[in-house]
Amino acid sequence: MSIERADIAFEVNGAAISVNVPPLRRLSSVLRDELRLTGTKVGCDAGDCGACTVLVDGEPVCACLMSAASAAGAAITTVEGLANGKLSALQASFLEHGAAQCGICTPGLLVAATALLEKNPFPTEVETQDALGGVLCRCTGYRKIVAAVMDASRHVESLNRRMPQSGHAVGASPIRLDGLPKVTGGEKFGGDSFPADALAVLVVRSPHYHARFAFGDLDSWARARPGVAGVFTAADIPGKNCFGVIGPFADQPALAEGFARFRGEAVALVAGERETILDLDLSDFPVSWTELPHVLEPREAQADGVELVHQHRPANLLTSGFVERGDPDAALSGAVVTVSGAIDTSYVEHAYIEPEAGYAYMDGDTLVVVACTQAPYMDRDDTAKVLGLAVDKVRIVPTATGGGFGSKLDVSLQPLIGLVAMKTGRPAALAYTRNESMISTTKRHPAEMQATIGADADGYVTGMVFAGDFNTGAYASWGPTVANRVPVHASGPYATPNYRAEGRAIHTNGPISGAFRGFGVPQATIMQETLYDELAGKLGIDRLDFRLKNCLRNGSETVTGQKLDSGVGIAECLEALQPHWTRALADTELFNAGSSTKKRGVGVASCWYGCGNTSLPNPSTIKVGISSQGEIVLHQGAVDIGQGSNTVITQICADALGLPLEKFRLKSADTAITPDAGKTSASRQTFVTGKAAERAGRALREAILRFANVSERAAIALDGANLTIREGEATRRVELSTLQADADGLVFVAEETYDPPTLPLDAKGQGKPYAVYGYGAQIAELEVDLKLGTVKLIKITAAHDVGKAINPLLVEGQIEGGIAQGIGMALMEEYIPGRTENLHDYLIPTIGDVPSIETILIEVPDPEGPFGAKGLGEHVLIPTAPAILNAIRHAAGVLVTKVPATPSRIRAAIRDKEARQ
Ligand code: FES
Ligand code: FES
Repeated sequence: MSIERADIAFEVNGAAISVNVPPLRRLSSVLRDELRLTGTKVGCDAGDCGACTVLVDGEPVCACLMSAASAAGAAITTVEGLANGKLSALQASFLEHGAAQCGICTPGLLVAATALLEKNPFPTEVETQDALGGVLCRCTGYRKIVAAVMDASRHVESLNRRMPQSGHAVGASPIRLDGLPKVTGGEKFGGDSFPADALAVLVVRSPHYHARFAFGDLDSWARARPGVAGVFTAADIPGKNCFGVIGPFADQPALAEGFARFRGEAVALVAGERETILDLDLSDFPVSWTELPHVLEPREAQADGVELVHQHRPANLLTSGFVERGDPDAALSGAVVTVSGAIDTSYVEHAYIEPEAGYAYMDGDTLVVVACTQAPYMDRDDTAKVLGLAVDKVRIVPTATGGGFGSKLDVSLQPLIGLVAMKTGRPAALAYTRNESMISTTKRHPAEMQATIGADADGYVTGMVFAGDFNTGAYASWGPTVANRVPVHASGPYATPNYRAEGRAIHTNGPISGAFRGFGVPQATIMQETLYDELAGKLGIDRLDFRLKNCLRNGSETVTGQKLDSGVGIAECLEALQPHWTRALADTELFNAGSSTKKRGVGVASCWYGCGNTSLPNPSTIKVGISSQGEIVLHQGAVDIGQGSNTVITQICADALGLPLEKFRLKSADTAITPDAGKTSASRQTFVTGKAAERAGRALREAILRFANVSERAAIALDGANLTIREGEATRRVELSTLQADADGLVFVAEETYDPPTLPLDAKGQGKPYAVYGYGAQIAELEVDLKLGTVKLIKITAAHDVGKAINPLLVEGQIEGGIAQGIGMALMEEYIPGRTENLHDYLIPTIGDVPSIETILIEVPDPEGPFGAKGLGEHVLIPTAPAILNAIRHAAGVLVTKVPATPSRIRAAIRDKEARQ
C-alpha cells in the first residue's frame, strides 16, 4: 500500500523549505531524515522527554508530536539555528557551566531556554525550572543547566573560560574539549548519521516472559511485501549465537532459538527500505507462540520444582559471591547492641535519553559497526563471535553516546545490524524505539536483602552479617560482578572486624539486570546505612558521630583483609559535613516545632567504592605522539559517555608531558585506530586510563629529552612545528618537519599500559580486590507531608574524596548527576515489566525534582592514582538513596523497606506505625 505524500512548505532556521512527505509524518522525522537537521533529537517519540523540542513561531514544541502538515507555513527554529555563525550567549553559558555532559538533551534544553530568555532575559530559578520542565536530562542533575540559563544574559563574550597554561591543566576546569558540538547540534549520536542507502531494520520480539515459538513461512511473508529485503532468524547466524560480558557466564543469544526467556527478547529481524519499514505492520508476522510458566521474583525462582530459566543452573542460581572475616556469629552474640532488618529494592531503568542506535556496513571483508557504546572492544569481540568473523574483521566506531550508565556496556543491536549488513551487502541501520530500549536492555538488579549489625558499649561496630539475593533476570550480563562486588562493599567504609556477606545472582524471566552505576553497591548500602542509623539510635550516639567513630582510616583493614596504608578519605568527608549536619538538625528542629502535618528530617549516609574490576585485570593503553606539524595527537580510546574522559585524560597527559592542553588533538575510540583503553565502567577511566595517560605523557617527554640529550629538568615548549627544549642557558630547537614520521605522521611517540595491581580473593573473599578506593558522604534534608506521604527535597550536601580533582567542574557535574539518579532510585523509579515500559509511566527526576546541591571536594591523594586521583562515577549515586531514607525516618518516624519510597509506601508505613501506637 503506498502512502500519500504532499508538498509542505515552511521555514526552517530562516530558510524557506518545501518537503514532499506523508502529511502525518512527525515533524521530528522530517527535520532529521529529510532535512538532515539531526541536532533535533528523538528520545521517545511520545512527548515525554523533550529531546525533540524546537521553536514553532517562537514557541517551544515537541517536534515528535507535531505532524508535518501542521507545521505548514510556520517558522521553525532548531538548535542549528541558534548559533548564527557564532555561539549564542546561552550556548557559551552552557559550555562554561558544564551544563552539557553527554549532550543528547542539550539541543532540546537550549531551544526551550531560548524561548524563555526571549521573553525573560533574567529568569529566576523557579521560572527556569518551569520553562525547562518538559525536557529530561539523565546526566547532569540539572543544577548546572539552571545556572547556565540564569547566567546566559550576563555573558558579554561568547566564551570566558580559557585554556590553562602549560603544566597547569590538572586541577583546572577548561570547557570540555568535546563540548562545542554538543551545544551547536553538530554532535553525532548513534542515530544521527545513517547512510542514505541503508536498509532499515525492525526487531521482532517476544511478547511473553517465557514462551516456545515457531516460525511460519518467512520467505512468502517477505516476498509479499515489496521493499522488504529479508527476514533473518537465529538460523542465519553464522557464528556462535551466544554473547555475554563475562566469558564463562556468556549465555545470551543474539536472536533467540526456539524459545524466549524474557518479554522483549529478539527473535527475528526484518530488513527493508526505510519507507517500507516505517509503515510495516508486524501483526501478521508468521510466528506462533506457546506460553510457558514463568517466574519474576527470586523467591519464586528458588522454590522447589520451579522451571529453570537455564537448565544447567540449578535453583536458578547464576552465581554467588562471599566474604568472611573473623567470627561474625560470636561477635553478634557478644554485642551490646544489635539491629536487624530487611529491605527490597526494585528494577531501575537506565533511561538514558538516547535509545540504542547505529548502523553497520561491509568495508571489503571487514564489518564496520558505527553505534553508541561504552565498550567498543567488548562489542567487537562479541560481534565477531556471533557473526563468525575474526576479531580483526570487525571494526567498532563509537558515535557520541547519549548516556550509558552501565547498560551500553552490553552489546544490543551491534550483532543484529551486523548480521543484516553481512547477509545483504547493504548498510543496515537501526534505532531502538524507547519501548524496545526499555524492554530489551539491562536494568539495575532488584535486591532482597537482610542484615544484622552489632556494636559494643563504646559504640564500635563489632560484627555484621549480610545476605542479598539479586534478581539477575533471564541472562547473566553483569550478574556475576554484582554478586561478587556486593559482599566486598556491604560493610560500607567502616571498620568491621567480624563479617560475613553473601551476594547471590538469581535468574528469573524478568528483564536482564546488568551494570548500573554501582553494580549492586547502592542497594547494599541502603541496607547497611539504614541499620547504622538504628544502631546509633540504640546507642544514643549522634548518627554522624557514630559513622565518624567507625569509619576506615589509613592503616585500617577492610573486610577482605586489605590493609589501606594511605589515601583513605572517608573521615575527611564526614568531618567536612559536620557543620552542615549541625545546621540542618537545628533548622529541622525549628521547623518541626511549628508544624504538625509536615515534618522535616535530615539523613546521612556514606559510600566507598573500589575503582576498576574486582580482582581481575583491566588494563588501559594510551598512545600519544607529536606530529611533524606540531600537533600533539592523543589516541584516547576511553569512550566519553558524558562523564568527561576526553577532557580529563587529556589534562592528565598534558601535565605529564609538560605541554599545553590547547596543543592536543584527540583521536577518539575506534577499534581500528586507538589502543584499547578498556570499558567505561566501574569508575575506572580517570584512575586506570588516566594512569596510562600519565605514563604515556611522561614517556613521550622522556623520549624528547633523550633525543635532545638533556636532563629531566629541561622544559619543553611547542611553537607551531618547532619544539624548543631549554635547560639552564642552553636552548635546542627542533624543526619537527625535518624528522622521520611514522605511518601515523608522528615524529615522537609513546604508548603505555597500566593495569591496577590487585590480588585474587580466596574462598573466604580475602585478598586485595582493588588498588584504589574512593569515598564520600552525603546529607539529605527533606520534608514529608504526613497526610499525603509526599517528600519535598530541600537540600543535598555532598562531600566526596576524589584524591585529586583533575577537573573540578566535571567532578561537580558527576556528583550532581549521580545525586539526581540516587533521588530517582530513592523516591520514584520502579521499572515494572508490562507496565512502565515508557518514559510516561516510568518516572525519572525532572528539573523540578532536584534540590539545591552543595558539593564539597575532598582531596586525599592516593599514591596509585594519576596525580593522586581516584574514580568517582559510581560513588556519587551510592549515598543518596540511604541518606534520603534515613531523612524520611527522621522526619516521619518510619523506615520504608521497599524502595522506592513512593508516597503510598510512606503513607502505608505511617499508617502501620499509627496502628501500633
Ligand atoms: Fe519528542 Fe521525546 S522525542 S518528547
Ligand atoms: Fe542531559 Fe546527558 S547531558 S541527558
